[in-house]
Amino acid sequence: MSVIKCEKNIFVLETKNTHYALCVDGNGYNRHIYWGKKCAPQDYFVQCTGDENSNHTRLDEYKQEMTVFGGTMFRDCDIKAQFSDACREIDLEYVESETKGNTLVITFRDRYYPLAVKLNYETFDDSDIMKRFVTVENTGTEDILFEKLYSAEFNLPSVKPYKFQNTNGAWGGEFVKCETKLQGGYAVWESRKGASNHSNSPYFIASQNADENKGDVYFASLAYSGNFKVCASRDLYGVTRITMGMNEFDFSYTLKAGESFDTPPVYFGYTCSGFGDMTRQMNRFALNNILPKSFAHKSLPVIYNSWEATGFDVNTQHQTKLAQIASKLGVELFVMDDGWFGQRKDDRAGLGDWYVNKEKFPNGLGELISNVNSLGMDFGLWVEPEMVNPDSDLYRNHPDWAYHYKHRTANELRHQLVLNMTRQDVQQYIFETLDKLLTDYNIKYIKWDMNRPFSETGAENLENPKMYSYLHTMAVYNIVDRLKANHPDVAIESCASGGGRCDLGALSHFDQAWTSDNTDGIDRMTIQKGYALLRPVKTMRAWVTDIAGINKPCTLDFRFNVAMQGALSLGGNLLKYSGEDLEICKKYIAIYKEIRDIVQFGDLYRVLDDEQDDVLLNNYVSEDKKESVAFLCARGTRFYKKRIPVTFGGLDENKIYQLNFQGEKYVKSGAFLMNVGIPAHIRGAYYNEIIHIKEICD
Ligand code: DGJ
Repeated sequence: MSVIKCEKNIFVLETKNTHYALCVDGNGYNRHIYWGKKCAPQDYFVQCTGDENSNHTRLDEYKQEMTVFGGTMFRDCDIKAQFSDACREIDLEYVESETKGNTLVITFRDRYYPLAVKLNYETFDDSDIMKRFVTVENTGTEDILFEKLYSAEFNLPSVKPYKFQNTNGAWGGEFVKCETKLQGGYAVWESRKGASNHSNSPYFIASQNADENKGDVYFASLAYSGNFKVCASRDLYGVTRITMGMNEFDFSYTLKAGESFDTPPVYFGYTCSGFGDMTRQMNRFALNNILPKSFAHKSLPVIYNSWEATGFDVNTQHQTKLAQIASKLGVELFVMDDGWFGQRKDDRAGLGDWYVNKEKFPNGLGELISNVNSLGMDFGLWVEPEMVNPDSDLYRNHPDWAYHYKHRTANELRHQLVLNMTRQDVQQYIFETLDKLLTDYNIKYIKWDMNRPFSETGAENLENPKMYSYLHTMAVYNIVDRLKANHPDVAIESCASGGGRCDLGALSHFDQAWTSDNTDGIDRMTIQKGYALLRPVKTMRAWVTDIAGINKPCTLDFRFNVAMQGALSLGGNLLKYSGEDLEICKKYIAIYKEIRDIVQFGDLYRVLDDEQDDVLLNNYVSEDKKESVAFLCARGTRFYKKRIPVTFGGLDENKIYQLNFQGEKYVKSGAFLMNVGIPAHIRGAYYNEIIHIKEICD
């Protein structure tokens, strides 16, 4: 896992199984050479390309690591800037390169203007995932105005078309997988809503002849929660390129004299072993290198969240009753959701006023927290710090704190406005308020919500006005980091009307995420599948609730089966549960505690897909392959399907495992379980089973 420098400014990023080769050519251009399986490093060379004719220039055909706007380069670029004399073109020359351990930095500068551009790369031990970002530096005395400032450009090796996967989601339907075969033109996935949002994911997954277990897959994920754009293109000659970074939609950035700027990073990798390997690589890499260190390697607790049971109607007595039941079931952390603060009776008032509502909590929050603690559970609290209701003391005192234009009416969504988080005083208010709550009360968990896209993103004092999405995002990250520094035992969840902000940027600061407000067991199979494709499974909060009533309610067992495939939580109205239902909850929570480390830290093998195979079979395998847990579930099977052989993924073929399934006890080798499998009788509505597979040691 290192950077190899060959002759003629050729650099090879070497990971466990792959090479990523690039160079600076004789004319000083950055050039991409290759990405894929390892070859002999000394064999790499940069191909000569000449102008084919006056319509297809050399520059337009170059495979580059970073394309700047200028000259006869007409395809999509990554960096576009305007200098103080209104020149809008960049012309870079090579300056130097530096390799230090696992990092490579190649520096270029404009041939005339005082701009330096650095391409930064990093490899990691024991992983095929790499990291890259771009640094721009103003070395002069005048401003430089950027109109586009992306993080990375990728060129794929094959001239044949690639299939791209992204997500095409919405509130209540996040992470729904979509596929596009890109034969020509452009395909774009983006957010323009201020935060990364529910619709598309800030990544690309490009594949050829791939399935779960085989085939070439190239993938890259932008660690950024603001407006993003991922743009893939394929030209007539079969070159597939992808550019990705902060969206140039409503974007510009003034880099002042002497300043430098690092773009958000991109994590990227290649595998020849299909989508399953991609997921496992990114999952492990995120556990080791992306998630905040404090909780990355700790088992996440079973949570109860009050939202679906109580809505805004929270008070000490009612919450305590829920907590009493939750604790008997084995819940470890009780989260009180929206409604506890200011004049919050519904969503029309209170956001911004983060003081305890005295009518609902006459003795303060302390009483409820100590009730919860005395039941043996930790306490968590919901907040939505980036927002304000016009009907709030905060807004009445500081109307200028919300994004706005003086002569425009600010659009309210859910009766709320977005705070101008780029202001120091707003940041300070939010930090101090949350810090005080965490200091005054024994709170171990914060659910940080964010329930609307941004609009009217102006403000009299907003410096770099078209940089709001980036600055806002960084302010959120920064406050989260500062809170964590002061309160290292507090975990923080990223929620944005469900899964509107759970990109790898958010997950570099938040410990977990709320996946979706849609807790319907059936829909969740699709939503969770999309989430876990390129995001760590352990961060995926999954509640068992009374279902939002979207589909015909599925059984409680079934809902547990699905929710146990992430970070199990409960969210139903426990006061209405029958004795039998409560026993079911108790049983599954106990099982989850036994197997949660396999789910949260193991490797996921998607063996059967409900959308293709009627039945979903996900099995998670511990890193040492001594244990596995398989979840089998199907909303119902067609054609009187009787016995099918069920095989498992990821076991050690030489180990002997034991498992109990449908009344039979099996002792079989990993090879048998993976290739032959065991007979399963899969029939009936909401069929589901959990199979715990353990190595037998003599
Ligand atoms: C949206 C979240 O996704 C829900 O879980 C809940 O916290 C509500 N907001 C509260 O207003």
